[in-house]
Amino acid sequence: MKTKKLYINTIGCQMNVYDSEQIEKGLLSMNYKTTEYLDKADLILVNTCAIREKAEQKVFSFLGRLAGLKKKNPGLIIGVGGCVAQQEGEKILKRVPHIDVVFGTHAISRLPGIIKRVESKKCRIIDIGMSQKIEEIETVVNSMDNGKVSSFVTIMQGCDNYCTYCVVPYVRGRESSRDPESIVKEIQGLVNSGVREVTLLGQNVNSYGKKEGLCSFSELMARISKVKGLLRIRFTTSHPKDLSDDLILAFKDNEKLCSHIHLPVQSGSDRVLKRMNRKYTRGLYLEKVDKLRKICPDISITSDFIVGFPGETNADFKETLDLIETMKYESLFAFKYSDRPNAPASHFPHKISDQEKKDRLQKLLDFQERIKREKNQSMVGSTQVVLVEGLSKKQSSGGTSTAETQARESGTDVSKKADMQWTGRTSANKIVNFTADNRLISSIEPFAGNLVNIKIDKAFSHSLWGKYKNIKSIPLSLMAS
Ligand code: 5AD
Ligand code: SF4
Repeated sequence: MKTKKLYINTIGCQMNVYDSEQIEKGLLSMNYKTTEYLDKADLILVNTCAIREKAEQKVFSFLGRLAGLKKKNPGLIIGVGGCVAQQEGEKILKRVPHIDVVFGTHAISRLPGIIKRVESKKCRIIDIGMSQKIEEIETVVNSMDNGKVSSFVTIMQGCDNYCTYCVVPYVRGRESSRDPESIVKEIQGLVNSGVREVTLLGQNVNSYGKKEGLCSFSELMARISKVKGLLRIRFTTSHPKDLSDDLILAFKDNEKLCSHIHLPVQSGSDRVLKRMNRKYTRGLYLEKVDKLRKICPDISITSDFIVGFPGETNADFKETLDLIETMKYESLFAFKYSDRPNAPASHFPHKISDQEKKDRLQKLLDFQERIKREKNQSMVGSTQVVLVEGLSKKQSSGGTSTAETQARESGTDVSKKADMQWTGRTSANKIVNFTADNRLISSIEPFAGNLVNIKIDKAFSHSLWGKYKNIKSIPLSLMAS
């Protein structure tokens, strides 16, 4: 069968990255192999994000650019999937005449069948059907996973929280969790192909399994930690209202669980939190953080913020800055509020002007920058345990995770060149770039995927820089099943 070329543009969150990987794996059975070149593709898919207005604009500007390619090559198939596809449905086919396929967030397992039908019948297809229960996709671990050190694994879909600004419940549907057996099996397969770290994904992982009466999230992690060869577990995202005591305890009890939690607070003002329907107060959030820091003193906490929510006053915004000062986040993401279709806040009065939102965002980011710089600076001189992901981007043409393999395959003599530059992360999720004399590491093969000790020499705002000291021997408890 002739190999066909697939180009995927993934916009949005880690869940979309995972979904795109599933799409690639599914289409591999139809002999579609990914290409980095848009003009070489037989099939172009855009996996879209609807979380903020800006992300949606990005989708339509990319789709617009494809009109010329379709004109040149009428056999080209173009598909739009993910959250914007779910939200806009048929409207996309009308708005963008050169689109052949619109597939929603629950249609990924059906995509190969859809593409087959478009190929043979030359028709346009729309599939935005949603199911109550997450579909178990037969987990295929294949050549795509080779050389990967870290991998995402979606453990649940959807969200039942209905924060008033958020489109997710409408485009990703009701919350539904995967069976633990299937999750563990997928992770075992990934580890067998070389993966050493998994990030478990869900909109609100703390409520994993509750609805279905499966095991709790911390029990799921305990089961996952038994997978031999897996070194690290991460998860995202946690809703503060559901951060339970047993999950907090897991940071002490589960040796493989990294000391990092993403705990989006959105605002420091109780008045705003209430109107956002977040179901916690600033006080409750700080109480939970206190417990977390008592159990795991070096835990790194990151967060999301929305500025300019309808009705947010200067006093509310000051409370947000004050919370940031109190919390001393490792890092944070901040967004200007934007109206989303179906989300109740789009009908709220007292909208904030774009200029005001811009000013508040800049103030917030400047405020955090100082905290972050001080935090990173305090790490200079320390030794950090880093999971090596691959050669740093500087020394490879492609992504970092497969950089070592790429360098070897492309004939770069990894064993002779001294002071190669590598990249990895600490348990707290800090990016560390470092040099390692190749004579020191030549017997450790592959080098990516190992835990190593790195002496930190310099701190930048988004990463640390250091020198390789030695390999960290892995405690048997981390390896054994
Ligand atoms: N406007 C701005 N930011 C939003 N987010 C979600 N919805 C909106 C919106 N309508 C942000 C929240 C969330 C992150 C993924 O995106 O901070 O945690
Ligand atoms: Fe959106 Fe709130 Fe659900 Fe997060 S918890 S996905 S912000 S509705």
